[in-house]
Amino acid sequence: MRGLHHCVIAMALCAIALTGCAPDVTTQQEQTPPEQPETTSLYAEITAAEYETWTPAPGYTVRQAAKGPHGDEVQIFLDATAEKGLVDGGTAWPVGSVIAKDIFRDGDLVEIAAMKRQADGWYWGEWDAQGKPIAEGLAVEPCEGCHADGTDGTLGVTLK
Ligand code: HEC
Repeated sequence: MRGLHHCVIAMALCAIALTGCAPDVTTQQEQTPPEQPETTSLYAEITAAEYETWTPAPGYTVRQAAKGPHGDEVQIFLDATAEKGLVDGGTAWPVGSVIAKDIFRDGDLVEIAAMKRQADGWYWGEWDAQGKPIAEGLAVEPCEGCHADGTDGTLGVTLK
């Protein structure tokens, strides 16, 4: 009796698997792939470089309470060029420096912000956790205006 019962369940599962999954396999091949979120070069650059493995900014080896408008906790990472700039000191970040910031809300990563020093100024970017752009570009507001308070544009990690 129990054996029969199990068999019925197994057959029911089989039927679900066949009707539920098998047709999808064929239709998926005919469909165009689902639309990917619009991503950008700086986002692609920092994720390809695995920015979360970069050196954390001083004081940011673990997440810190956010001092800015976004999220409740943040962690800041420096690429090798920015790290060298910080060690060398001075009043400007070396061209090519990239600084990335993970933004958390209630423990979840909700946004990623980054800034890249170009010869003509900072290139800013902010994306949601899936890489969808929120703001991006050279000298974009409100990023540039609020960051103007810091030496060469940084507020959490600071040059002398
Ligand atoms: C109203 C002020 C304000 C605005 C607007 C703002 N930020 Fe910030 N940002 C901060 C503060 C304060 C920090 C210091 C770290 C923290 O606590 O969030 C910071 C830190 C950062 C950092 C880490 C480097 C650093 O300065 O220490 C990045 C990257 C960054 N912001 C990107 C952006 C981008 C991109 C935008 C625009 C989309 C933006 N920010 C808009 C206040 C601001």
